[in-house]
Amino acid sequence: MFFRPMQHKAAGLAHNPLKAIVSPRPIGWIGSQGTDGSLNLAPYSFFNAISEDPAMVMFSVQVHPEKDQKDSLRNIEETGEFVVNIVSEAQFQAMNVSSGDYDYGDSEFERAGLEPVASATISVPRASGVPAALECKHFQTLPLPRNTDGGGYTVIIGTITGIFIDDSVIEDGMLKYDRFVPISRLGYRDYGRITDIFQATRPSES
Ligand SMILES: Cc1cc2nc3c(=O)[nH]c(=O)nc-3n(C[C@H](O)[C@H](O)[C@H](O)COP(=O)(O)O)c2cc1C
Repeated sequence: MFFRPMQHKAAGLAHNPLKAIVSPRPIGWIGSQGTDGSLNLAPYSFFNAISEDPAMVMFSVQVHPEKDQKDSLRNIEETGEFVVNIVSEAQFQAMNVSSGDYDYGDSEFERAGLEPVASATISVPRASGVPAALECKHFQTLPLPRNTDGGGYTVIIGTITGIFIDDSVIEDGMLKYDRFVPISRLGYRDYGRITDIFQATRPSES
């Protein structure tokens, strides 16, 4: 099978497989705050860490020509800060609730029954209960090319200024995946969780 992007239906595929092909993707559960003080929380799976030193992350926000821009994008442009909360099994339902299309200022923290917990290096709080969180300052906004309808994605790049890890997920100086259990996004309506781990050394290490 071969087809060009967005031509999957002509190729006999009912649903776009792109996100299933590029999977699993980590979920950046993005906390942000507007200049009016309102809190926002939303999951983004076009998300990743992109540099270790300096430590940096990115996530990509869908832009629709006829809809208001997403609250995360608006807030980060307004105040220049955001938190990447990591979604473990225990936060899955709250994460899903927070992806709802709520009015600006309608806090997903409240909707999902989460408490804001103060960050150390920025004003935006993390969500209570998360196993890890990255405090970030906005570095750059990169609008990607628009499609023929005028829609597309805008990438937010941030510099990590602080890293929170819940002590309970660390043992012998390393994160334990069986306590941490980061949830990932696959394609369609599918999610993944780590149940099997193996180690390998690089050629240069043996
Ligand atoms: C697991 C998951 C991953 C998502 N990833 C993205 C994404 O990468 N980009 C995006 O624009 N929307 C994504 N969404 C949809 C947003 O979370 C949703 O539009 C949300 O309402 C945006 O909230 P905001 O307006 O408060 O920023 C995702 C939803 C879920 C459940």
